[in-house]
Amino acid sequence: MNLYTIILPMIIAIINLIGFKVAAESDQSNLSFAENLYATLSGACRAILDLQVNSMNSQNAILKTMKVIYLNDTDIKTFSIDKSFQTLTQPGVFDITKQTKIIIHGYRDNSQSSVSLDLAQGYNEKKMFNVLLVDAEEMMNQRYILSVHNARLVGKRLANLLANLENFGASAEDFHILGISLGAHIAGWTGKYFHRYRSRTIGRITGLDPAGPCFSFAYADQRLDKMDAKYVDVLHSNRLVQGVIEPLGHSDFYINGGGPQQPGCVMPSCSHLRAAQIYAESIRIPKSFVGIRCQSWQAFEANACKDKNYAVLGYGSSTSTRGLYYLRTTASSPFGLGMNGTKHVGPPQDNNNWLMNLSYT
Ligand SMILES: *[C@@H]1O[C@H](CO)[C@@H](O)[C@H](O)[C@H]1NC(C)=O
Ligand SMILES: *[C@@H]1O[C@H](CO)[C@@H](O)[C@H](O)[C@H]1NC(C)=O
Ligand SMILES: *[C@@H]1O[C@H](CO)[C@@H](O)[C@H](O)[C@H]1NC(C)=O
Ligand SMILES: *[C@@H]1O[C@H](CO)[C@@H](O)[C@H](O)[C@H]1NC(C)=O
Repeated sequence: MNLYTIILPMIIAIINLIGFKVAAESDQSNLSFAENLYATLSGACRAILDLQVNSMNSQNAILKTMKVIYLNDTDIKTFSIDKSFQTLTQPGVFDITKQTKIIIHGYRDNSQSSVSLDLAQGYNEKKMFNVLLVDAEEMMNQRYILSVHNARLVGKRLANLLANLENFGASAEDFHILGISLGAHIAGWTGKYFHRYRSRTIGRITGLDPAGPCFSFAYADQRLDKMDAKYVDVLHSNRLVQGVIEPLGHSDFYINGGGPQQPGCVMPSCSHLRAAQIYAESIRIPKSFVGIRCQSWQAFEANACKDKNYAVLGYGSSTSTRGLYYLRTTASSPFGLGMNGTKHVGPPQDNNNWLMNLSYT
């Protein structure tokens, strides 16, 4: 039996019945019905997490299975998290003068999935970075709610490694964590704990369609947030289903309106993964994705965005980008349309059902 799909909706129904408002965000007065539902879901998720906290102590043992993979042109090294600092700081491995790209997979996934490897290889080809993959497969392979809990433990452990690397001479600013789905919230926890350990903020976190269930409209201290790094950029491709609904970063890019469905996709997992695929493409083909700041996707589709404010998505993203950006892509790789992706072609589309009518500016 799947706790997430069966019990959670029941609990939400009960919570709603007794009028017990567990939901998060400080001011919810303007949330739509759908948004409220998601907020309640995230609140219920927290409540379950709190109730189960004792039975979760076993997860600390599983944390030991966490691994770090270091790669460069000639070598791939895999080592346990407990050996990671010692291994990375051997001569010729980790270069403290370089920026470090750290890639974290999502729920029921691991570091060897094609999209994680694609991101790593893309960076590797630049020969400018330390490239690390984090593998927390066992922690992320539990039932969903337990993996949500584990995201915090994994993030904390990774923050410990980064704090040690900073102590060794690396610069906090040079750390850039890319988190896919639930991995985006792991990255958030890493940023929070790093700050706690070192009183400094890491350079950048990129959320690749951050996981939505348990996180949409959750408090900022429970999920990825713009406080977690100097620059937090977020790509949205499957909001309302597997991805988070609301903007979380300094800049948020809503790919084809943020979904829930991406062109060429049928299953939610396809749309969910699209954000990471698009980021990987942006490493190899810089400036192939440009977004336009807009008041809504509806306005974008009517080519009625108020200002002509454009921003590059992904690899070439300027850390001074602020706000919500929208763009179109193709349905298959290569996805990028360059500046063409900032314009809607043809008649305004009416694919926005009531669920999608979310307005943020
Ligand atoms: C909610 O909406 C009303 C009317 O559109 C607006 O005046 C108010 O500022 C909004 N509140 C928040 C917190 O956005
Ligand atoms: C790749 O990493 C290995 C250690 O794993 C190191 O000995 C080698 O010099 C590195 N190669 C390059 C090109 O940095
Ligand atoms: C943009 O559109 C123009 C005109 O249709 C086309 O010639 C050009 O190749 C397009 N650029 C990209 C990057 O798709
Ligand atoms: C969507 O939002 C716009 C602007 O807030 C509003 O005018 C419109 O009626 C809404 N559409 C639906 C279907 O709720």
